[in-house]
Amino acid sequence: MIVCVCVCVCVCVCVQGPALEKAVSAFRCVCGEDGVSLGEAVRQQHGRDESVHRCCPPDVVVFPRCVEEVSALAKICHRYDLPIIPFGTGTGLEGGVSALNGGVCFSLRNMDQVLDLHQEDFDVTVEPGVTRKALNAHLRHTGLWFPVDPGADASLCGMAATSASGTNAVRYGTMRENVLNLEVVLADGTVVHTAGKGRRPRKTSAGYNLTNLFVGSEGTLGIITKTTLRLYGIPEATVSAVCSFPSVQAAVDSTVQVLQAGVPIARIEFLDDVMIDACNRYNSLSYPVTPTLFLEFHGTESSLDEQISTTEEISGANGGSDFQWARDAETRERLWKARHDAWYAALALRPGCPLVGHVGDGNFHCLTVLDPSDSDEVQRVHLFTERLARRALAMDGTCTGEHGVGLGKRALLCEEMGPMTMEVMRSLKHTLDPKNLMNPGKIL
Ligand SMILES: Cc1cc2nc3c(=O)[nH]c(=O)nc-3n(C[C@H](O)[C@H](O)[C@H](O)COP(=O)(O)OP(=O)(O)OC[C@H]3O[C@@H](n4cnc5c(N)ncnc54)[C@H](O)[C@@H]3O)c2cc1C
Ligand SMILES: *[C@@H]1O[C@H](CO)[C@@H](O)[C@H](O)[C@H]1NC(C)=O
Repeated sequence: MIVCVCVCVCVCVCVQGPALEKAVSAFRCVCGEDGVSLGEAVRQQHGRDESVHRCCPPDVVVFPRCVEEVSALAKICHRYDLPIIPFGTGTGLEGGVSALNGGVCFSLRNMDQVLDLHQEDFDVTVEPGVTRKALNAHLRHTGLWFPVDPGADASLCGMAATSASGTNAVRYGTMRENVLNLEVVLADGTVVHTAGKGRRPRKTSAGYNLTNLFVGSEGTLGIITKTTLRLYGIPEATVSAVCSFPSVQAAVDSTVQVLQAGVPIARIEFLDDVMIDACNRYNSLSYPVTPTLFLEFHGTESSLDEQISTTEEISGANGGSDFQWARDAETRERLWKARHDAWYAALALRPGCPLVGHVGDGNFHCLTVLDPSDSDEVQRVHLFTERLARRALAMDGTCTGEHGVGLGKRALLCEEMGPMTMEVMRSLKHTLDPKNLMNPGKIL
């Protein structure tokens, strides 16, 4: 096994000085007085996400309104050697927006248009301020939807940047399977379209897949200013279900067998006894305190009956009990409430303590609730999460199924990839961003 020696040292350094002053007046010429903020509160708000990682505020926050402005602002940063940190909605969980070396935060919230909807081709192009809920509200009357759902109402370009997924991934894939093209502004202000301008083929064998390179790049290669996404027909019917199991093994075996049987299940989520207990208390529910599966099926009425009976049979054979099914939206919502509020239920286990999240994509979520002011506890949680990640690596898995690498997983990434692969990643980064201005200190 390759042991990595890169130590992650994070210090907040501000740029300041005459270069910053000159840059700020140039920024104002590009996006106006309103489009540039040096205010303390605004900077603090843009230096943190929803994780426990320390807040490093940027020196200045800019609010461009179009790709031309993003490009012009990037050129100024390039001229004055200022770091660029793209900001979507700040729901990330790996400290990705923290401005470790100070610099300029590009908040993309003012670019919030849904562009180029092609209903017959099942695709749409959106600007970086559009969130997944806003897109689905926009699509409501078309019979189409975008299913990737990381829980939070994140920006779709931020989701592309972190290669997000969530509960629907088992049926519809992650952002990686659902992005067709990206418009990206590089560190020197150049605008590129990863699949060619305006292209949106369902399949292609045309050269290197640059779209895939930028999916999951966490703002370290460029600023995503447009994403073209695959859309899906809203299923004719949806059924939700909850089922209790005598052991973790029984729940896991059922999951594997349901997938092996080819049931096109949309969501299958596992909660252990501690988690279900927390959810019961948080929402005054009364689920049995045992390992539990939350399921959801999408399809036609007749295909659903078949999916459900197969699943019920398999679960029963594994000792599953207390089955509850729901068809109408309201009851489904109530049934799944425990799962939807799991994050907040976990927080409530220890009031006042933020949360570290580690998510096993598609299968399980392991949450550790900690008190960040207790340095001994933080250290123990750190050692535990590292051991957990190393176990995943030892089983041919990955140290991060969701959320990306950000600050927290950089050493583990080296272990996962090995030195040669890391070297290729570094040279790609160097080719696209030779001055290391794009979100420095993240991933690599
Ligand atoms: C309660 C909760 C549950 C969550 N559950 C899941 C889950 O199940 N699955 C999952 O995958 N994630 C989950 N997340 C994490 C989070 O929602 C994702 O990481 C999300 O994709 C980040 O999007 P954002 O717009 O908020 O990005 P931000 O937090 O603003 O940024 C995240 C990173 O992406 C970069 N970035 C953002 N926008 C751009 C852009 N336009 N161009 C280039 N780089 C950019 C930033 O620089 C940063 O490095 C959860 C978060 C919360 C709070
Ligand atoms: C290229 O990558 C994108 C984004 O990950 C993906 O959607 C697309 O299917 C890939 N194309 C090919 C030909 O593999």
